[in-house]
Amino acid sequence: MLTSQDDNQVTADNEYLHVKTALLHSPSLSMKLRCNTWLKMENMQPSGSFKIRGIGNMCMKAVELRGPSIHFVTAAGVNTCLAVAYAARQLNVEATIVLPKIVDERLFDLVKLEGANLIAMGEDFEQAEVHARALLSKMRNGIYIPSSDNPCIWEGNSTIIKELKTQLRGEPPAAIICPVGGGGLLNGIITGLQQVGWKQVPVIAVETHGSNSFQAAVVAGKLVTLPKSKTIAKSLSVRTISSKSLELSLDHPVVPFAVSDAMAADAVRHFADDHKTMVEPACGAALSLCYTQVIRDILPSLSENSDIVVIATGGSDIFLDDLDAFRRKYANPPIVVKSGSEVFLKLGDSLSSIADVDTEAAAAAGVGMAVIDNIRNDRDPGALDGFTRVVNSAKYIASEQQNKAEISNLQDNEGIAHEQASLPSIKQEIIPSP
Ligand SMILES: Cc1ncc(COP(=O)(O)O)c(C=O)c1O
Repeated sequence: MLTSQDDNQVTADNEYLHVKTALLHSPSLSMKLRCNTWLKMENMQPSGSFKIRGIGNMCMKAVELRGPSIHFVTAAGVNTCLAVAYAARQLNVEATIVLPKIVDERLFDLVKLEGANLIAMGEDFEQAEVHARALLSKMRNGIYIPSSDNPCIWEGNSTIIKELKTQLRGEPPAAIICPVGGGGLLNGIITGLQQVGWKQVPVIAVETHGSNSFQAAVVAGKLVTLPKSKTIAKSLSVRTISSKSLELSLDHPVVPFAVSDAMAADAVRHFADDHKTMVEPACGAALSLCYTQVIRDILPSLSENSDIVVIATGGSDIFLDDLDAFRRKYANPPIVVKSGSEVFLKLGDSLSSIADVDTEAAAAAGVGMAVIDNIRNDRDPGALDGFTRVVNSAKYIASEQQNKAEISNLQDNEGIAHEQASLPSIKQEIIPSP
């Protein structure tokens, strides 16, 4: 059994519960994208994901403030639960984790391995949280540890950027790509960028179509609660984004993008093949912008000298048999992404255009311009050239038949129904490949 001291040997000091992770250059993605593609390997954190950075920070501060009799309680996503359980073991305090019964038994086993009290209760995470909070109310020194929405969590997550600055020898990257669930990671990344003086570095914030609460909020200019969150990227399954994420998106260049589940799953498989590393679909969502080369359409000015960084957030909700199931269900999916209120389609590597959003109609309808406005309002518009071009000149291939399934998936998805209803019409025009 590891002791607190053993685990912390990997950290330079005992200031944190997380470890400094490697920034790996990906030869395969760099070749594919024709720019330096770096992977911040958060999957190598002791609890299996970046979550231990923010949650570790919050848990340490809580113990400092309220002493060793404190009792951590949580009912958030699996990676949060694992981080809380790990933090409790390291800090030698009690933790009670409530997970809904629908969670894969193998994940229950992982939490039990960390030695936390585990309760299986409720049909979903919301019911589990109600139970956890009821337990908390009966404790003398209990504290609820949320997944994302706490300044200590953002502060802990912001350490990614401080490490990155040293690892990139102070040179700012052309962009950082990260997945977004509740927004704790995004908030940490943006506050970190602002603290290290990298205010111009854009963040490409990736969700899946079934969990796009950040994108919906940016488009609407206010918090939006999705009626239902439905995605294989379970760790992104949050119905309302943190209000801090929306606030920060007005102050920092952020491009919200949503990808299909199929793209996220396919990226997980490619990543396992290329880097011999398994990550869960939440992380695959961010990687998919690279595997599909959509990132080049978002940032057309990328050159061989540019650096982009993908936060490989990791995650424990992935097993070997999932890779096989993903291959059977999702191999070579058509590429469907949403940017703001626009939907783009792409297939294969050669590029032609299909989807042009009628931006005037969108403006007249008063929807969908949030992303563009967000960019124009920035203090340094030059740094953001590429983004406006996503709207104006992104070139995508259409293959109507192959894309039909994905499109109807999009339309079936209750999570984005409210947004679909207000989408401007999309003209489809098939142009032969060059
Ligand atoms: C592996 C992984 N990636 C990304 C996220 C999204 O992070 P956040 O909820 O802080 O936005 C999560 C959240 O649980 C996660 O577990």
